[in-house]
Amino acid sequence: MTQSLFILTGSGVSAESGLGTFRDTDGLWAKFDWRELATPEAFASKPEQVHAFYNARRAGLKKASPNAAHLALADLERAWLARGGEFLLVTQNVDDLHEQAGSERVVHMHGELKKMRCELCGEVHEAFDEITMDLPCLNCREAGGLRPHIVWFGEMPMEMDLIYDQLEACDLFVAIGTSGTVYPAAGFSQVAKQAGARCLEINLEETDTSPLFDEARKGLASQAVPAWVADMVG
Ligand code: OAD
Repeated sequence: MTQSLFILTGSGVSAESGLGTFRDTDGLWAKFDWRELATPEAFASKPEQVHAFYNARRAGLKKASPNAAHLALADLERAWLARGGEFLLVTQNVDDLHEQAGSERVVHMHGELKKMRCELCGEVHEAFDEITMDLPCLNCREAGGLRPHIVWFGEMPMEMDLIYDQLEACDLFVAIGTSGTVYPAAGFSQVAKQAGARCLEINLEETDTSPLFDEARKGLASQAVPAWVADMVG
């Protein structure tokens, strides 16, 4: 019987909330060069350009609301914990739509758009509006050190010890709306499978990692996720 659930979400879960995916034909990395926007080197050489990109995404998030997939995953978490099961939702998304939907056991392995971090003192603060190079840190009071609290290419994702512990202990691993192209998340299904878990993929289409999964449910996240959750909690 499935006791421990590990859910991994990607940008496909937020697509129907109006937030772009990355690698679809109209995705963010089809329109913008990630090397210029999502690397420590880009921030070191053109910080204003990097801030402008994330400031625009933060403004876009203000207009977005959770869709039926986010809401169903929050329902699943409540139902699963009430039955005494284990539950962890790891998201690659930097939006907070899972939290807005009511999810509580959420890990943002690629960081959070609504947070900023001071590179001078290390403090993490909430970021509701624009971050600029003139903005002083609320902790050390210095300007020029604040950056988006986002994991860029070449940086280590967050909470990896907790994630691998839970992956190795889970009975069911479910990947939702992710292309399975960015490591380490792309390798999670293999880790879970080797540890004995069943693996389910929910996606609009086949992905590079589909062959690793035991089962696939194809469709829009807003339909396929609530249908799967209904099957899980009856
Ligand atoms: P991708 O753009 O690579 O993949 C999005 C996936 O969602 C694709 O497999 C689509 O088929 C699927 N999809 C799109 N719309 C969907 C819908 N309505 N319902 C279900 N599935 C849908 O995005 P991610 O896999 O999230 O990292 O990308 C992973 C990481 O790459 C991101 O976190 C980001 C990016 O570079 C960083 O910025 C560090």
